[in-house]
Amino acid sequence: MSVIARRANRAALAIEGATVLDAPAEALHGIVSRLGPGRLKDALSGVAAAHPLHPVLVTVPVGALVGLAYLDATGGDPGTARRLLGLGLLASPVAIASGLVDWSDTDGPERRVGLAHLVANSAGLALVAASWVARANGARPKRAVTSSVAGLALMGVGGWLGGHLAYALGVGVDTTAFLRPPMEWTDVVAETDLVDGVPVSVTVDQTPVLVVRDRGRVLALGDRCTHRGGPLHESPVRDGCVECPWHGSRFEVTDGSVARGPATRPAAIFQTRVVDGRVQVRSDETRTLRLNPVV
Ligand code: FES
Repeated sequence: MSVIARRANRAALAIEGATVLDAPAEALHGIVSRLGPGRLKDALSGVAAAHPLHPVLVTVPVGALVGLAYLDATGGDPGTARRLLGLGLLASPVAIASGLVDWSDTDGPERRVGLAHLVANSAGLALVAASWVARANGARPKRAVTSSVAGLALMGVGGWLGGHLAYALGVGVDTTAFLRPPMEWTDVVAETDLVDGVPVSVTVDQTPVLVVRDRGRVLALGDRCTHRGGPLHESPVRDGCVECPWHGSRFEVTDGSVARGPATRPAAIFQTRVVDGRVQVRSDETRTLRLNPVV
């Protein structure tokens, strides 16, 4: 590991363990978490896109501000530079809102790193906004360029922390991506043990599986919420869905699809059959990480 990588990793670990961030994080969380499960939270989470929306939304301000830096560096048209800067500022609030929604369902180290990510990006945006003000009337004073460059640098730090959240801490990642599903028919429970609409949780090769009889059909899906890993079997089936007890995501028991977020990825679905009164399950999974989770 290079010196830079080692220092960066040390800094990330320090932020993860910085309990001094817990009080401000808790205060902000009290505000953000007032937005409960529902259409607005689904829209900001990215349920309709089947992936988290925040990484997509940030590309607009980042792209605009990188374009600004290029124009500043090459002496490009100051008016175009200011318009790009304005676009970056205009696109930021919705990107921040989607990030806050994702952050509101984190805890501990993830919440601390998320707060640091927010602070770095907000401070960077404030500097960029100051640059926009300083560029009034088509001017490009040196202090405006200094301010936007410093803002972009801070946003780079914020972006790195966002990468740490996703790639090191797994925020936004389908929490079932590394589970190993049963590929052969596997005996899990006696059919007579199933009560209509009441899920049963079983573990098959370390993979939690929810088995339920719903209106006469025996169904099986992953017993781990794809959002942050909540236990889906704790909820009875209502309107054809199980509801995660942690943040309220709802999954259709017939096909695992997301009926309500903040989860954006569907639950894993297993094939079922009944042989001699015993329910058996298996998966037709083909994705490499699930089949070879240690590779
Ligand atoms: S863990 Fe967040 S909704 Fe299930």
